[in-house]
Amino acid sequence: MVSRVIPVDPFDLVIFGGTGDLAQRKILPALFRRFCAGQWAEGAQLIGAARTSYDSVSFRKVVRESLLKFAAKQCKNGPALEAFLQRIDYVALDGSSKDGWAQLADKLKPERVRAFYFSVGPNLFGPLAERIEAHDLISPLTRIVVEKPFGHDLASAQALNATLAAHFSEKQIYRIDHYLGKETVQNLMAVRFGNMLFEPLWNSQYVDHIQITVAESVGIDGREEYYERAGAMRDMMQNHLMQLLCLIAMEPPAKFDPDSVRDEKLKVIRALDPVEPHHIVRGQFEDEDTGYRQIVGNPRSTTESYVALKAHVSNWRWAGTPFYLRTGKRLVARSSVINVMFKDAPHSIFGADAGRHANVLSIRLQPNEGITLKVTIKEPGPGGMRLVDVPLDMSFAEALGPENQDPPDAYERLVMDVIRGNQTLFMRGDEVEAAWAWTDPVIAGWQARGDVPKPYDSGSTGPGDAELLMKRDGRRWQGINP
Ligand code: BG6
Repeated sequence: MVSRVIPVDPFDLVIFGGTGDLAQRKILPALFRRFCAGQWAEGAQLIGAARTSYDSVSFRKVVRESLLKFAAKQCKNGPALEAFLQRIDYVALDGSSKDGWAQLADKLKPERVRAFYFSVGPNLFGPLAERIEAHDLISPLTRIVVEKPFGHDLASAQALNATLAAHFSEKQIYRIDHYLGKETVQNLMAVRFGNMLFEPLWNSQYVDHIQITVAESVGIDGREEYYERAGAMRDMMQNHLMQLLCLIAMEPPAKFDPDSVRDEKLKVIRALDPVEPHHIVRGQFEDEDTGYRQIVGNPRSTTESYVALKAHVSNWRWAGTPFYLRTGKRLVARSSVINVMFKDAPHSIFGADAGRHANVLSIRLQPNEGITLKVTIKEPGPGGMRLVDVPLDMSFAEALGPENQDPPDAYERLVMDVIRGNQTLFMRGDEVEAAWAWTDPVIAGWQARGDVPKPYDSGSTGPGDAELLMKRDGRRWQGINP
């Protein structure tokens, strides 16, 4: 199956923080891959903007190095790499002074899509937005892209929203949660709303519970300062896992358009009950020399690198079906999976000896994207009616052919959506605020109680208390497998 590439309109894309880690590691390689795929229209250009006093030649050199590292496969096409670099320009500018803005204005062309990517700390969002407006750079086709963390709590998220709203309309603001750009995350919607098979069973009558696991084997190296202030609750739960929960739990939107989808997601967040303190487990990884506390250089750190919790979506569809969410660093494997655990058949005609069997729909987000449905069948051979569970397995790479073995990176999809002006996979301001409103009391509770995270071994599945969270309810986590 060959994917279709629809070129986007010509654009000027300005990346503030263009020399930074995110730009070099993710945004530029993603743009290069889309360039190689033929998605860039004639004349589209990219302008790096940062304080470093590069010119376009020295900036291109830096970009070339990054692409060789992070888009090695596409770099084998030497002429494409050179052609891409020719589309790149650079302006040295300062978000907090007038320097460089006139040069930037000169490089922008009228009447084409103009996107400003704020790949910088949130403290610069306001100053940049102000300068963009002061230099008259806002055209009807202007969009801005902002990265997470979008706030540290509800109050700071509201302040950021207000700052941006002073200069841009909501339709111009693209808040990135890169999980929404992942191929299989979008597939969640296709599976749910493109098939008759699942939707009638997608409720508390048939679903016992849902498990969402985003396990990482990596630690926090190189991000100690940020992470120590954030922790897993802010870094992953408030955004990525919350978005996955929304896509699993939401009602079918009337259309696949930005506001229909985001309205439904918002309703899910607003239907979440506050999390009970005994329904949440925090953990912190330990290791001989490279435990969390050694890495951050704080022997008394109480920041969690792991969190597991039980959430309830209080509405007609989900009353009585808990959602168990967990995420952590330095776990046994990198594995992101959503498991929809169906109820047992109401009555077994095969008698007690046949055991208990329930269907499980597993949506593997990464790695090895695919979907597995566990079904119960008769164990082959003589000896009576013995039942076993076997997987009906659909690996996307196998089913869709070799060209789909390497699905596009989330940023490829998201940046092109910005140019197309499609906000469906971006978070709206009210969604982000609602997610913080749910997260804040949890964190405030920990602070008030002086909660200390439970230690867990680096390379394990997390703290034992997370197992107990399930066990108390007569359930167990599915394994964390690579
Ligand atoms: C980021 C978090 O948003 O997502 C990181 O800040 C985390 O801590 C990363 O490692 C995970 O993204 P992915 O795409 O590797 O699953």
